[in-house]
Amino acid sequence: DDTAGSTDVRIERDGAIATVIIDRPKALNALSPAVLTALAEAFGALAAEGAAVRGVILVGAGGRAFVAGADIRELAGFTPEQGEATALLGHRLAAVIEALPAPVIACVDGFALGGGLELALACDFIYATDASGFGQPEVRLGLIPGFGGTVRLPRAIGLARAKELIYSGRRIGIDEAVEIGLVVRRFPDRDALLAGARETLGLVAQNAAPAVGLAKRVLVTATGTPTATASGLEVEGFRDAFRTDDMHEGVAAFLEKREPVFTGS
Ligand code: HXC
Repeated sequence: DDTAGSTDVRIERDGAIATVIIDRPKALNALSPAVLTALAEAFGALAAEGAAVRGVILVGAGGRAFVAGADIRELAGFTPEQGEATALLGHRLAAVIEALPAPVIACVDGFALGGGLELALACDFIYATDASGFGQPEVRLGLIPGFGGTVRLPRAIGLARAKELIYSGRRIGIDEAVEIGLVVRRFPDRDALLAGARETLGLVAQNAAPAVGLAKRVLVTATGTPTATASGLEVEGFRDAFRTDDMHEGVAAFLEKREPVFTGS
């Protein structure tokens, strides 16, 4: 019932679960600057709702692609400075997604290529259908990943595998994507994919919202930092949980052998 600021991106709501839809099927949902801006606005609007949003599904419309990458037609005429500005837009969008306290599941049904795979990697994890294909084909265009592929792909699948995919530009199917841990769960079709994501986010929504948000904060900020830094961030997050009502409720409920009643504060 809610809409973001663009016809290419919209938000559907089912209670505390939001679905962000990239709807530009004629270009296989390619990320034009306008789509990138609309996505950042959509996730910003969800962030503004605080604990009312417990989970987000990000999905592409049209059934052929999640996102086939940055918009090659627009990139064609760019100056280096415009290329830099576009890469920054993508990185800013990734930062907005990572700053959202609720988990975001990238639901991939079809192509997730280049900037599309990078967008999926900025989400918390990827669920995908059997009909999915993944790759970083930028070098085939004389480009390199610019929306975080060199940063997040190695973290997701390891440095050597990321190098192999980025240097070769080859596309992988669902079997390999699951095998290397890029995709967390696979589904036979789109309906099953979305149902699976909703089921997982339903579990998330039963838990203490501040705790899920703190866990995400630590996982996002600590990953890739040295052990001592990461450990410090976890200790801070653990401490901050004690400042929440839901932590006291959750622990009390366990000790009193009853179900917790979380308020999200
Ligand atoms: C703009 C795109 C597009 C893209 C597809 N289309 N991908 N338009 N940008 N990334 C358009 C096609 O031009 C075509 O439009 C329509 O979508 C359907 O695509 P087809 O190629 O006809 O379909 P098909 O033959 O099935 O091939 C599908 C495909 C192929 C394998 C996904 O479209 C493809 O290789 N796309 C490009 C993938 C890619 O290189 N992505 C990385 C981009 S660089 P018309 O009008 O002809 O029907 C990148 C950099 C990120 O992402 C960082 C930037 C800072």
